[in-house]
Amino acid sequence: MRFHCSQKALDQASADTSALFTWRGMAPHGSALHRMLARRSEADGFRGNPGEIFLYHAPDGSASPRYLLVGLGPEARGNLESLRTAAAALSRRVRRLGARTLAVQLPGGGPLRGATVDAVSQALAEGLLLGGFRFDRYRSENSSGEKPLRRVEVLLGKQKRTAVQGGLRRGTVYAQATNLARTLVMEPPSELTPMRMAAIVRKEARQAGVTCKVMRRAELEKRGMGGILGVSRGSAEEPCLIHLRYRPRRRAGKHVVLVGKGITFDSGGLSLKGSASMENMKSDMAGAAAVLAVMRALPELKVPVAVDGLLLMSENMPSGTAQKPGDILRTYSGKTVEVTNTDAEGRLVLADGLAYAAEWKPDEIIDLATLTGGCVVALGPAGAGLMSNDETLARALLSAAGHAGEKLWQLPLYHEYLDMIRSPVADLKNSGVRWGSAITAGLFLQEFVPADIPWAHLDIAGPAFLDRAHGAFPKGATGAGVRILLHHLEA
Ligand code: BES
Ligand code: MN
Ligand code: ZN
Repeated sequence: MRFHCSQKALDQASADTSALFTWRGMAPHGSALHRMLARRSEADGFRGNPGEIFLYHAPDGSASPRYLLVGLGPEARGNLESLRTAAAALSRRVRRLGARTLAVQLPGGGPLRGATVDAVSQALAEGLLLGGFRFDRYRSENSSGEKPLRRVEVLLGKQKRTAVQGGLRRGTVYAQATNLARTLVMEPPSELTPMRMAAIVRKEARQAGVTCKVMRRAELEKRGMGGILGVSRGSAEEPCLIHLRYRPRRRAGKHVVLVGKGITFDSGGLSLKGSASMENMKSDMAGAAAVLAVMRALPELKVPVAVDGLLLMSENMPSGTAQKPGDILRTYSGKTVEVTNTDAEGRLVLADGLAYAAEWKPDEIIDLATLTGGCVVALGPAGAGLMSNDETLARALLSAAGHAGEKLWQLPLYHEYLDMIRSPVADLKNSGVRWGSAITAGLFLQEFVPADIPWAHLDIAGPAFLDRAHGAFPKGATGAGVRILLHHLEA
């Protein structure tokens, strides 16, 4: 999808489809075309609710054969996310109509007046690209027949062209990164194995100009990474730790390490999951996919921060060689862990990743993981859980999430729950009691981060993979966390 800007009015722009946005109950006004659309849509019962679309087939001789009026919802509760959601709905509709070119009026006014033209343009581009996401590699030809939008002409009012172009470009980078994460999460687990992921990451890193090193099993053994090695023991697939390194051209402000959980399939191991809970466990590498997606975007955005990404890739499978409940692992940090439940594997691989990250003494460590069902019980599918040892970092991430239009909610790290993960035979055990499991998982991770390094943990188990579409998030993989981290690193 390519964006172009023009100064044309809506009734002059020619495209397969032309569109404009409108707040609820605020009829479009201006040209004769606007007034006509207002009249027709009102007669049709169109209100302008979020994502509501009115379609008008124009008479022969019109600049475009059809016009779409897209609802932004109530002005009083409006924000950039209203636009992102509406643009995503528009994108889906345009695709179903078979349009390859779109002319769209850049919205302004109402609550968007408070936002910069940059941010409005970014939200428009994000919505269109995120809404246009499809994963259909494995569908036989003609099964959908839908083709993506090729060209979008953004019709400017008084807005400055360079600001709009900058926003559209940034939105494109953010959305493409998100869509890359989505694609990888959607891949079937027998296709996207840890080493296959390593091959993909290598290629993406080379294209982006990011350094990539892959530690295979032998090296993980040499370094004593007992957490990831324990988890991978039941699997026929070789595990690996992928290290991505981005350095800005100019001197770096600070140094951040991102750590992603990359379980390419989580069967639970010998503590086997039931069929229903296993169905979507190809998505258990969504944290790693998000870290790759962020790293991929950093050079294009010229982010002035030094960033390392660690992707902990493994399968979690039952077999004759699998780790067993009762086994004790020696993690990279030297701390020992009694494995009381092989389905609490995420924290085992992250323990190695976090301790490895801490050796660099970075300014911040942020991990992303589809870590606990408990977090999904607490927050549902809409939002991710945030836990942190540093209030400044937590607040920065909450603010970044607000800008991204992603939901993030802080959970406490109650100290007294540490007792729940103490083991009589090792330093820690990997699962506590049923209650507060998102928090005990967070406390477990915290044990592998020195207290003087600001660290945050994003539990994306809920929003990473959805049963049904939600705003700009589609059914299936969403790319949760990608835009939060990009906003955070750019801030
Ligand atoms: N990958 C799962 C968590 C998960 C659940 C992700 C639902 C996405 C949707 C994780 O490895 C897991 O199995 N966690 C267990 C931990 C428990 C055994 C302590 C859980 O939350 O049930
Ligand atoms: Mn598990
Ligand atoms: Zn898992």
